[in-house]
Amino acid sequence: MTTTSTPLDKWEMHPRHFWLRGIRPEAPVEYDPEVGMWHVYGYPETLEILSDPATYSSEVAARYVSPEQAAVAFDGNLTQADPPEHQKLRKLVGRTFTLKMVAELESRIAALTHELLDRIEGDTFDLAEALAYPLPVIVICDMLGIPREDRELLKEWADQSLMASTQLTTHQGDKAQEESLDTQAEAAMAMGFYILELVTRRRAEPQDDLLSRLVEAEVDGERLTDRQIVNFANLLISAGHITTTMLLGNTILCLDAFPDVDRRVREDRSLVPTLLEESLRYLSPLAAGYRVTTRDVEIGGVKIPEGDVLEVWFSAANRDARVFQDPDVFDPARTPNPQIGFGRGIHFCLGAPLARLEGRVAMNILFDRFPRLRVDPDDKPTFLTSPEFTGVWRLPIRVN
Ligand code: HEM
Repeated sequence: MTTTSTPLDKWEMHPRHFWLRGIRPEAPVEYDPEVGMWHVYGYPETLEILSDPATYSSEVAARYVSPEQAAVAFDGNLTQADPPEHQKLRKLVGRTFTLKMVAELESRIAALTHELLDRIEGDTFDLAEALAYPLPVIVICDMLGIPREDRELLKEWADQSLMASTQLTTHQGDKAQEESLDTQAEAAMAMGFYILELVTRRRAEPQDDLLSRLVEAEVDGERLTDRQIVNFANLLISAGHITTTMLLGNTILCLDAFPDVDRRVREDRSLVPTLLEESLRYLSPLAAGYRVTTRDVEIGGVKIPEGDVLEVWFSAANRDARVFQDPDVFDPARTPNPQIGFGRGIHFCLGAPLARLEGRVAMNILFDRFPRLRVDPDDKPTFLTSPEFTGVWRLPIRVN
């Protein structure tokens, strides 16, 4: 398949994401003095890092906040934990967040998608506001057992945290970074206090929800502490909503940019799951993750000293021509497609089955309800500003 345009030609995505414009990195791993970190762009190098947590630690947060703050804010946050703590936590939360539980949500997700789309009036609307944002938020809040009337509150905290997000640097005394981390910490703390109150109530009176199961979960006689439950719930709320919002938005952007793909998938709906995998590869919502070296290493032809931070670009690795044939072609039937938009190894996304289910159900319903769905030619989409994300903030759509 050949293509003549890419979504990037039409819209202003993050300038740092040069690989999305078909440009190849000069080296798979390179140092960036501006941010004081190593960028990892290559796929094999990324896999090497993700599969070796002993050498490439996830406990990066302590580099940016004080160790005391990190202990409070990240205890129970799987993404910031290394083995053996990570295994213990993942086992505990894995007991509560099962594949069966996710599969049972299908009809609820479909009903919710219809309900949200029924509210749309007129031929033009913001798809992020109407569907892509609220759907995953409602699903994760329902799972956790967060009352409906409190959703706006959570949205405010999550938005506050997202909008504050900027490119991290390892430079001490970076004012903009300090302010943005403070804003994020304030939002996380407000959400934390709110969740703690719910946890306390669940301890006294368990319900049929994820928070109650987290309170009761036990592995080898160990249970999660309140702080761990709060931080894990915080992670689920933030990881669980904005990423799936981006998956849906990015998929619509790709279909708009490649009308031949849109026609092909509408004619053969069995392609929806592989369309979503290709969307995760082509525009990976979580563009990057961080690791810190625990010893001197050599990777991608460069030597990296112990204690240095790596920004691992899943999004760039997903365009590596050493692994993906014609990486800049959007192919909804790409096989094989070993995309790493959900990461790999011990930190592989816990919510991947839920995100895939939400994506499949929502895309099928959008195809059913709107024979024509395109980005409004008179109104540009806007994008999340953080370079860690690739995704829409606003997605104006026209359906006539
Ligand atoms: C981890 C992406 C949806 C919860 C991750 C990682 C990636 C990712 C790349 C690994 C990060 C790393 O190794 O540093 C995505 C994308 C999503 C999505 C692209 C949607 C399209 C979700 C959802 C949930 C979720 C819906 C939960 C409701 C988590 C959790 C982890 C994680 C808890 C940490 C796992 C661990 O460290 O063991 N996600 N995610 N994610 N994700 Fe997702």
